[in-house]
Amino acid sequence: MNASPISAPILSVSQLTKAFRGLKALQDVNLNLFPGTIHGVIGPNGAGKTTLFNCLTGQILPTDGVITFKGQDITHLRAPAIAKLGIARTFQNIRLFGTMTVLDNVRVAQQLRTRFNLVEVIANVGTFRSKEKALTEAALAHLDTFGLAAEANRLAINLPYGTQRRLEIARALATGPSLLLLDEPAAGMNASETDALHQMILDVQKRFALTIVLVEHDMRLVMGLCDQITVLSYGKVLAEGRPDDIRQNQQVIESYLGVSKKRKTPAKV
Ligand SMILES: Nc1ncnc2c1ncn2[C@@H]1O[C@H](COP(=O)(O)OP(=O)(O)OP(=O)(O)O)[C@@H](O)[C@H]1O
Ligand SMILES: [Mg+2]
Repeated sequence: MNASPISAPILSVSQLTKAFRGLKALQDVNLNLFPGTIHGVIGPNGAGKTTLFNCLTGQILPTDGVITFKGQDITHLRAPAIAKLGIARTFQNIRLFGTMTVLDNVRVAQQLRTRFNLVEVIANVGTFRSKEKALTEAALAHLDTFGLAAEANRLAINLPYGTQRRLEIARALATGPSLLLLDEPAAGMNASETDALHQMILDVQKRFALTIVLVEHDMRLVMGLCDQITVLSYGKVLAEGRPDDIRQNQQVIESYLGVSKKRKTPAKV
């Protein structure tokens, strides 16, 4: 657990709405993320959690509302521009480059920060080669901090599931973000893998000075990690507060925490 929200938000969402034809997947959502905190977003299947991430990262454009990141209006920016500004994510269904090596998965992400100028490359091949070498070394060092250096030359697709999840987080952090969005990172993990993930999230938050948004159905992980939690239901904010407030909120218990039999994916409590 971390900082109390005394500084200005790093990201603000105001009256965010996303409609898919008739369906309002998000409706008038307001959200403030404070630097250095871990903010949970929870709610039943179809509540709009992934849609929120898709809007924040420019994968889809909102229908209405404003998203501000570090004081800049990013509402209508597309994914590459938003990634360059420092928002990174992982996906609910792992999206690694499966037929590339672990090392290349990280190198591709690094290139977002260190684009080579083609004219410079042609004019000075020697410099280019040494930059390439430096990049590879940086990628290996980055993998090492995630305990993945030994896997550098393996194809991503051949890694065990939990390791693929770890690589996805490593790759997201290779872009040098200040805000990291994790969409169900513990999905499919057993208890000991989830405990390791818990520790890893705390470690990377500190090491990379991150603000983190955690979408998860595993309530032990959410309650144990988050400073603040927003509950979505049918695209609207149902509640917001600290873990203890959320745990005891009657509406949240009725719509999510206490009705596991009605859900496809039960909240693990
Ligand atoms: N591209 C799309 N086109 C049409 N409808 C969509 C699209 N993406 C999401 N939806 C709908 O929007 C609603 C919210 O979906 P979303 O994936 O954001 O939910 P979620 O909270 O992430 O759920 P889960 O916990 O199952 O991952 C759902 O009814 C979903 O079917
Ligand atoms: Mg989702």
